[in-house]
Amino acid sequence: MTDIRSSIMADIFRLQEVERAAAELFRDTGLIDIDGMAVVSLTDHVAAIEAGLSLVCESGGRIAGFAIGEWQERDVYLHELDVDPAFQKRGIGAALVRRFVDESRALGARDVYLATFRDPPWNAPFYRKLGFRDVARSDYLPWMTALEESQASFLDLATRVFMKLA
Ligand SMILES: CC(C)(COP(=O)(O)OP(=O)(O)OC[C@H]1O[C@@H](n2cnc3c(N)ncnc32)[C@H](O)[C@@H]1OP(=O)(O)O)[C@@H](O)C(=O)NCCC(=O)NCCS
Repeated sequence: MTDIRSSIMADIFRLQEVERAAAELFRDTGLIDIDGMAVVSLTDHVAAIEAGLSLVCESGGRIAGFAIGEWQERDVYLHELDVDPAFQKRGIGAALVRRFVDESRALGARDVYLATFRDPPWNAPFYRKLGFRDVARSDYLPWMTALEESQASFLDLATRVFMKLA
């Protein structure tokens, strides 16, 4: 049985574990330095929980996946979404995104954005199925440009795309 609920502080170390395990999906893509990557910090997890933008999905009593976000002015940015490989391809990721969007709207978000890789089927194509559309570079908001600049040292920005829920 799966259940989506708000995260609590005691979940954070498991969320970091899920993120690292989920990243294995990228190992052969060359898109991420899996062994060198940093997971979302404790501070960012705490901030997401305090903002009401951290959700976990439990399956059989175990945390199977999570979605966390942050405010960017009047919009919500879906910062991280991960499902433990043992629980992938069962609809948990899609259910987390839908619920995250519902919670963001309930909190008053104008729009919901995310940034992801263009090509892997579990990234931009996955989000397109859920109603997200690519944002043209000419439509980037200032915080998007700033976020990309902060990622330029460890991500090839040509492989990335911002998306907005249509
Ligand atoms: C992205 C992620 C959270 C999806 O979680 P999930 O629970 O496996 O996803 P779902 O079961 O809800 O799949 C939804 C759709 O995504 C696609 N998809 C998901 N995983 C896929 C994979 N490994 N290969 C191909 N397509 C995949 C499928 O098309 C599926 O659609 P369908 O149900 O119509 O077949 C998971 O793959 C993950 O943790 N990936 C690593 C981290 C990551 O990429 N996070 C997002 C970064 S922005």
